Amino acid sequence: MAHSHLAEMLDLDADVLHEFHRDVITWVGSVTPARSRIIDLGAGTGTGALALARQLPDAEVVAVDVSESMLEHLRHKASALGVADRIHTVQADLDQLWPPLSPADLVWASASLHHMADPGRALTQALATLRPGGALVVTELDSFPRFLPDEAGAALEDRCHDALAEIRAEAGMHMGEDWGARLAEAGFIVEAERHFDIALQPPLPAATGRYAQVSLQRMRHGLDGRLDAGDLAALDALAAGVPGRDDLTVRATRTVWLARRPEESQVPQ
Ligand SMILES: C[S@@+](CC[C@H](N)C(=O)[O-])C[C@H]1O[C@@H](n2cnc3c(N)ncnc32)[C@H](O)[C@@H]1O
Repeated sequence: MAHSHLAEMLDLDADVLHEFHRDVITWVGSVTPARSRIIDLGAGTGTGALALARQLPDAEVVAVDVSESMLEHLRHKASALGVADRIHTVQADLDQLWPPLSPADLVWASASLHHMADPGRALTQALATLRPGGALVVTELDSFPRFLPDEAGAALEDRCHDALAEIRAEAGMHMGEDWGARLAEAGFIVEAERHFDIALQPPLPAATGRYAQVSLQRMRHGLDGRLDAGDLAALDALAAGVPGRDDLTVRATRTVWLARRPEESQVPQ
């Protein structure tokens, strides 16, 4: 899928799932010092970086992404929201040796760790980037949201999700990992794991139809040869029609882990 569609999908996600994002930011803001240095790993269009900057008006945020066009989009949004003076962007491939980012009070990684070739190595570098006692917040998801309310549509969505899960597993993507265990292995103390079951019913925000369309098109990308021709044609027709529908639902799950780098006194000698 074109990169601009991913950027649009991330912005639509922030809009349609705003209650989930608000709940997580309020929680994380309540356990983060006001004058924090925050690093957003795989920041995308800045859903986390911008919300954290607004929640913590004395914080400074460094948004890191491999994609310069994502970061450019993020900088435009930061200017429009009046927080550009506290948001810095760093273009870097987090699968390589990281640029100097420390010392951080909070490292935020939303839907980005599963993209890393070696998430364990990324977590080790995240630990080193944090001050002792600093927090890492990881959000991960199992799949795209589901939108279709009727039985036949939901069954087609299920077949698409199953095929995508196979493709991701074959490609070695790290979706569905036990991130709590990975965090502990990397040397973090896991303080909380919160599971969010999102189930939105109509009437939904106006952006929902477009969010469903971009998500279905993104799923469709790569499914050639993985579903039969009838399913692919049905998926194309559904994707074309969803912006005009008012019966869509949004069903999604997200899990958020809050972990800390141990204080010096907690590190075994
Ligand atoms: C699914 S998006 C999530 C964006 C954002 N964190 C959010 O929650 O909306 C994943 C982001 O990770 C970035 N990314 C993927 N692999 C990366 C890497 N190796 N180094 C840095 N960024 C990476 C992508 O460019 C993309 O912006």
